[in-house]
Amino acid sequence: MKAVVLVGGVGTRLRPITETIPKPLVWLMDRPSLDHVLDHLSSHGVHEVVLSSSYLESTFHAFIEARHGDPRITWITETEPLGTGGAIVSALDRLGDEPFLALNGDILTDLDLTAMIALHRERHAAATIALHHVEDARPFGLVPTDAEGRVLEFREKPTERVPGDVNAGTYVLEPAVLRSWPSGTNLSIEREIFPALIAAGHPVHGFLSDAYWLDLGTPRQYLQAHFDLLDGRVGGASYPAPFVADGARVHLRAHLGRWVVVGRGAEVGPDAEIDDSVLHPNAVVEAGARIVGSILGPRARVGAGATVRDCALAEAASVEPGATLQGERVSAGRRVGGSSKDPARPM
Ligand code: GDD
Ligand code: MG
Repeated sequence: MKAVVLVGGVGTRLRPITETIPKPLVWLMDRPSLDHVLDHLSSHGVHEVVLSSSYLESTFHAFIEARHGDPRITWITETEPLGTGGAIVSALDRLGDEPFLALNGDILTDLDLTAMIALHRERHAAATIALHHVEDARPFGLVPTDAEGRVLEFREKPTERVPGDVNAGTYVLEPAVLRSWPSGTNLSIEREIFPALIAAGHPVHGFLSDAYWLDLGTPRQYLQAHFDLLDGRVGGASYPAPFVADGARVHLRAHLGRWVVVGRGAEVGPDAEIDDSVLHPNAVVEAGARIVGSILGPRARVGAGATVRDCALAEAASVEPGATLQGERVSAGRRVGGSSKDPARPM
């Protein structure tokens, strides 16, 4: 089976981390989050993947070169963003006539893809949509089904706070029912293609599961994904807590809480204290600094004795020694605190 992984979003809600790094390439534990998605696909027998994007395209080329082996990756450049549906339709000529998988690239899940594909075939579905139950469907696509699991409606981002089964961002799709849509055009699978398939009477099925599932779209969710991985809640993954990557340097007198990730090449100085936080590769926390509930992007630096609480620091952002920062987002390369006139933005 082949797959399209949707990686072309601009990651607005995860800014400033995504100012220089597209969301699927932001590190999750020991590797970019897209590596987790591709490894999951490979473990379910998917050996060919199509990726496409127009946002920070060159960063994907470096990723693809660094990643060897399974699955094989075909890259398509979107000259302008094609949307979730347009990216899938425009990849059809690389996907053949067999059913294929399409996935949102910003989801951490241990979903049983093999069982989902089996259900799709058994039901002779045109499309099968993985579903996840939530108490508040507003950030998602609400997907009500009948007693047999057939999808009745696809309502993207409902305005009212309702519980229900929502689109988990993993689909099995029959190419034949997508061929009438024009290639190279911006389309939304959620707002255009699924509603049209349902209205035309095509069999669209839901695959409800209680698999681990989290959209990594906001700083809070992105931190939560790390805590859940450290807690062993995600099938197929196992990490010690705290997790200190190979090549990281943590001073013997530093204190790391249990819910902490120190990325490759990162440094933590003496008497620094870190809790509930993630340090990306080559981030630096100097002596006596205190970090809580925060994300430090690659090469971000927190000066000696500074306090950083509930913050997100983008790539190479820095906090002056002795400064206190709470609930701020610091842009890539910016320097804040101390006498700096360069204010951070609230989280
Ligand atoms: N190639 C490409 N081109 N990919 C895109 C584009 C585009 O123009 N726009 C968005 N994507 C990718 C994003 O990178 C992401 O992986 C995926 O499509 C979904 O986009 P998001 O922006 O993350 O959407 P969302 O989180 O608000 O909602 C989607 O996911 C929810 C589950 O987390 C929808 O599919 C909802 O229905 C769903 O419930
Ligand atoms: Mg998302």
